[in-house]
Amino acid sequence: MKKSIFYCCVIFCIMVSQAYSQKKEQYLGNCTAYSVKGNKVVFSCANNSKIMLQLCSGEVVKIWASADGNFVRNNESFAVIEEDLGWKGNVTVKEEPSTYEIFTEQLRIRVNKAPFQLQIFDKYQKLLFSDYAEKGFVNDNGKIRTNKVLRNDEQFFGLGEKSGNLNRRGSAYKMWNSDQPCYGVNEDPLYKSIPFFMSSYRYGIFFDNTYKTEFKFGSESNDYYSFEAPAGQMVYYFMFGNDYKEIIQNYIALTGKPIMPPKWALGFSQCRGDYTREDQAREIAAEFRKRKIPCDIIYQDIGWTEGLQDFDWRKNNYNNPKGMVKDLSDMGFKMIVSQDPVISQANQQQWKEADALGHLVKDVRTGKSYDMPWPWGGNCGVVDFTKPEVADWWGSYQQKPLNDGVRGFWTDMGEPAWSNEDAVDRLNMKHHLGMHNEIHNVYGFTWDKVVTEQFYKHNPNKRIFQMTRAAYAGLQRYTFGWSGDSGNGSNVLDGWKQMANQIPVGLSAGMGLIPFWTCDISGYCGDIKDYDAMAELYVRWLQFGVFTPLSRAHHEGGNAVEPWKFGTEAENISRKSIELKYKLFPYLYTYAREAHDTGLPIMRALLLEYPNDKETFKLNGQFLVGKELLVAPVVEQGAVTKDVYLPEGEWIDFNNCKTKYKGEQWITVDAPLNTIPVFVKKGSIIPQMPVMQYIDEKKVYPVTFDIFPGNLNKETSFTFYEDDGESRDYERDVFCKTKITSKASNEEIKITVGEREYKGYSPAGPRNFILKIHASNKPKDVFAGGEKLKNVKPHVLEKNIEADFTKINWSWNEAENVISVRIPDSGKNAVITIKN
Ligand code: NOJ
Repeated sequence: MKKSIFYCCVIFCIMVSQAYSQKKEQYLGNCTAYSVKGNKVVFSCANNSKIMLQLCSGEVVKIWASADGNFVRNNESFAVIEEDLGWKGNVTVKEEPSTYEIFTEQLRIRVNKAPFQLQIFDKYQKLLFSDYAEKGFVNDNGKIRTNKVLRNDEQFFGLGEKSGNLNRRGSAYKMWNSDQPCYGVNEDPLYKSIPFFMSSYRYGIFFDNTYKTEFKFGSESNDYYSFEAPAGQMVYYFMFGNDYKEIIQNYIALTGKPIMPPKWALGFSQCRGDYTREDQAREIAAEFRKRKIPCDIIYQDIGWTEGLQDFDWRKNNYNNPKGMVKDLSDMGFKMIVSQDPVISQANQQQWKEADALGHLVKDVRTGKSYDMPWPWGGNCGVVDFTKPEVADWWGSYQQKPLNDGVRGFWTDMGEPAWSNEDAVDRLNMKHHLGMHNEIHNVYGFTWDKVVTEQFYKHNPNKRIFQMTRAAYAGLQRYTFGWSGDSGNGSNVLDGWKQMANQIPVGLSAGMGLIPFWTCDISGYCGDIKDYDAMAELYVRWLQFGVFTPLSRAHHEGGNAVEPWKFGTEAENISRKSIELKYKLFPYLYTYAREAHDTGLPIMRALLLEYPNDKETFKLNGQFLVGKELLVAPVVEQGAVTKDVYLPEGEWIDFNNCKTKYKGEQWITVDAPLNTIPVFVKKGSIIPQMPVMQYIDEKKVYPVTFDIFPGNLNKETSFTFYEDDGESRDYERDVFCKTKITSKASNEEIKITVGEREYKGYSPAGPRNFILKIHASNKPKDVFAGGEKLKNVKPHVLEKNIEADFTKINWSWNEAENVISVRIPDSGKNAVITIKN
């Protein structure tokens, strides 16, 4: 035989033997038996594989498919903190020749035996969720996948803070926390991994696998969608809900409630990459106050600290940091500083300490601390937050600036940065809890947890402020979020699409349980060379940004993005936009509490409130703030109009309350540069406060309730929430609530200020309420209880409003068609009757 033929034969034999040694894709096959233990049913299938269904409640089922029949995984869930959601007793399995069935109050769970196929129906036999033929669990040599039936009209929402359309149908996504400077409008993956999504077929899935999971929502086929992981276990939770809100509530029952931020976090904040100096911080603070632009927070970027990450102030930049923080605080500013999760090797003392203590992630090849390149500060050691001993160590370091009066942290670069998919060397990192391929996506999460728990330990009963970039599902228990380095790096003026992209990114972040969120107002990337040319983009970004709960203007390096940098017109419009945010504070804060209670975001996709209106599935350019306000920011260069979709009901132009529109239609509204299209739903009550330069500038103030009565004989109400705004007492339900109700008939409008529900908290002092009723005509008379009230001129009604708590009267504003009623807030029930 010729030599070459001989070699070909050898190669062929090797290939054949490899093909044989690589097992084929393995499915569950036929199901032959089952066993029940409490709320768990285990079905035994072919080749020793098993699948376990655990009934957490009548709506939530944990599903775990195991190729070898062992239900073990390397780590317990990082995200799930409670699986007992109310299921009582043993599961009953009803066996038929070809199926097993389990019934709950809401669900009918069916297992087809041959081959195994899981199907979940609602109690009316409507199919919600089904394995795609026998491919409900596919094991491809340790890579695991599940394929599910995809209906023509099925849509998907979720996966947290990700780019692209709100509706995920037709696209594929990956989870690998990635540092993506100047990311594009379809960039994936981004910084956070939140493997939770919802289907329009009224269920949600949380795929609790921390490896590099992938989701294909019909991008491969119109018949099935899938989710998969390169390793780990196929563990996911099915959550039923009559609508998306209910699904979200089930998700927070599993993964925890969002913490509430201190109330000043809902003010405006200012930042810049080179905010790293005391004189500059003082200057910026003074400028805000001088120009009367409200602002609560001044950030300091990472250069504030001397060495990564010893939490010492950079010596040459800060003369008297404690004095600076105190002076700023006297002016109403709170300072937040950045932290990175690494120790620079240049910071020899701390690095040696961390290395000696074994607090750094190891290199599996050498057993030594991993040598991590970092964008600044030279090579670093990566702090291993999965190691329990690290917590106290880090906690005492981070306490240093807190002791100087700093109010919280901006936790940056926790992917960790420079560990994107192509940085394969990072897979050699060994964390205390596992190898990097498992830990990567939860690395930031474990850091955020330490930051918050240590903050609580050292600062008892204080709310944490932490705003983070990289995270995993469950982050809402520890931190808030921002969307990293958006903007156009090649040409900052081309950032319009990036800004527009931030709307669905923020809405999806909200549904992934980041209710307290912002993006960098102005975009992070791109040198600003021409401030006049940038003014329009800045103004439009800010008009959107004031409706993101944490509103922070930030830009890279020395590119200043304070509102006064862009000319007088931009400054004036920016001031007005920020003032609107402050006026709405009582409304927003009430929704902050709702976010804590229910997981619902403040800035919310319309589909959360109008799940049956299919038009809402397409809306990437507008959103609700709470339930009552609809905001449609202009995100197109040069645009002076905006197309807006109004869902059912009647909608009132919030900028001109005499203009009304019928719902369930698209409209085009005027939106010159000084206008943010905002609409309020007929049948709403919006509490507001006077403009302040910072939250709590005045501890007591008159609260105005803008009342838009509903349809005849239909009650409208709003329950206004208050608490101390700083402590963790809200977690123990210390607060007060005041319910305002309005009901209109042909003869009258009746407004009831309900008796306040006191739960250990009272407003700080006496105050007046102003009820501003948007009506069509001047009323004949206004009564409080049985007493006829005096009709006064608007300026008389406003007189001494902050000091005199004895007057009760009303006025009529002809230009706006508004009846104002001034009434001291006694905390007691009060009924105002407006006679037509
Ligand atoms: C990356 C962050 O995304 C950015 O906002 C920050 O300014 C830089 N790190 C510098 O700390």
